[in-house]
Amino acid sequence: MKFFVDTANLDQIKEAEDLGVLDGVTTNPSLMAKEGITGHDNILKHYVKICEIVSGDVSAEVISTDYNGIVDEGEMLASLHKQIVVKVPMIREGVKALRYFSNKGIKTNCTLVFSAGQALLAAKAGATYVSPFLGRLDDINQDGIDLIHQIVHIYSMYDFKTQVLAASIRSPLHIVRCAEAGADVATCPLSAILDLLKHPLTDSGLAKFLADAKKFTEPASNKF
Ligand code: G3P
Repeated sequence: MKFFVDTANLDQIKEAEDLGVLDGVTTNPSLMAKEGITGHDNILKHYVKICEIVSGDVSAEVISTDYNGIVDEGEMLASLHKQIVVKVPMIREGVKALRYFSNKGIKTNCTLVFSAGQALLAAKAGATYVSPFLGRLDDINQDGIDLIHQIVHIYSMYDFKTQVLAASIRSPLHIVRCAEAGADVATCPLSAILDLLKHPLTDSGLAKFLADAKKFTEPASNKF
């Protein structure tokens, strides 16, 4: 399973890249606004900066909702850098645009997916990635992981090439559950990736190993 980091924060993207486990980045207008990135030119420059930090795919979301607008905006975003993936909302005009981009060889990420039916449409339209938002389903008392299982199952039966990019991940347990479900990608806050490191038995075990190692590194005269 690939790890993407779901942020527009350059420091966090660098930190995830330094860890050596980063495969890509996803952003959305809310994440850009959170970093204070405003204005058309600044937003475009920011996408390029992200592409210069990582070597994998970087999702940049369109804000148009009509077919021609999505196509124009998506082509402009895709021309910024070869790593850019055009993020398109799961709406009627978006599905049409996914087919257009697919025919032109432009990579896409179909976002705001909350049902297997929507995921089926995204795959039929040739999306490169589909983004089911599992955390937001959990928020309304529906099991987001069930949806990941369902989409992975449907795609495997028909050999769809669209990759399941589990999004709206909130915790390390979400990441592990996505791996169990067979998601192709998990896009996560950096904190959830770092939380995968944690286990109290690792901490206590390491403390004991280091304490024991000290016994062998003390000068021989101190041993008796
Ligand atoms: O990738 C989608 C993600 O940014 C949404 O996450 O936590 O706002 O539901 P969240």
